[in-house]
Amino acid sequence: MKGVILAGGLATRLRPLTQVTNKHLLPIYNKPMIYYPLEAMQRAGIKEVLIITGPDHAGAFLNLLKSGDQFELRLSYEIQQEAGGISQGIALSESFADREKLLVILGDNIFTYNLKQTAKEFEEKRNGAMVFAIEMPTESKQYGVIELDKNNKVLSIEEKPENPKSNLAQTGIYMYDNRVFGFIRKLKPSRRGELEVTDLNNFYVKEGAMECGIIDWWVDAGTSYDELLRANNLVAEKVKNNEIR
Ligand code: DAU
Repeated sequence: MKGVILAGGLATRLRPLTQVTNKHLLPIYNKPMIYYPLEAMQRAGIKEVLIITGPDHAGAFLNLLKSGDQFELRLSYEIQQEAGGISQGIALSESFADREKLLVILGDNIFTYNLKQTAKEFEEKRNGAMVFAIEMPTESKQYGVIELDKNNKVLSIEEKPENPKSNLAQTGIYMYDNRVFGFIRKLKPSRRGELEVTDLNNFYVKEGAMECGIIDWWVDAGTSYDELLRANNLVAEKVKNNEIR
């Protein structure tokens, strides 16, 4: 299985912090944001990771991460010319994937959940996909929302719904078989003009081939100044309590 980290997009919600830099290079207490998905890849046992970013600050990623030695990863880089959506970004990894399965992590997702066991089990399966969810204290309209049946099979995923069917937020952690690229080719742009990850995931949901894992703590640090601050405070607390490095 290979790894893909999405670190493009315009991050307009965090302007002017992202006026002259890429969101994923902003600090989360003692590390740049992009270290979190990279360390998650390393923990999951992935060896090769493709970082997809926009054209403006790609050089800064190279300067910071270089070949990936410090994470024991072999890094490659790909440019997403325009921010056409998460699925459009994933499509750029087709030749890198070379028919292997993919672990995709959004570059602004802060978590330390260990994906190793699930990744191993997923690799052994013939096909399908996985999403990872987190239970929110209240229903959340700002994320994808996942509805599960009693056996944890995904019944539906709705992107930022007006009336959420559950309090399970879709995180930015996904596992796909190599049919993912065929499904992306069938996608149409959403109302916000993007190829949405939720529309992609729903191809697997319709087939009954989408499973869901539940993770512990998680912050989408890219959504607002407050979530960025919350990620910083949470990580600072965990570092000081020696829960994480
Ligand atoms: O983080 C979880 C959420 O991520 C999910 O709950 C939603 O279902 C999913 O659609 C996504 O929602 P966001 O509105 O948070 O997506 P955002 O546009 O912030 O992009 C997420 C990451 O993907 C971010 O790190 C930037 C990267 N990205 C985004 C776009 C639109 C790209 O690399 N290229 C892109 O074109």
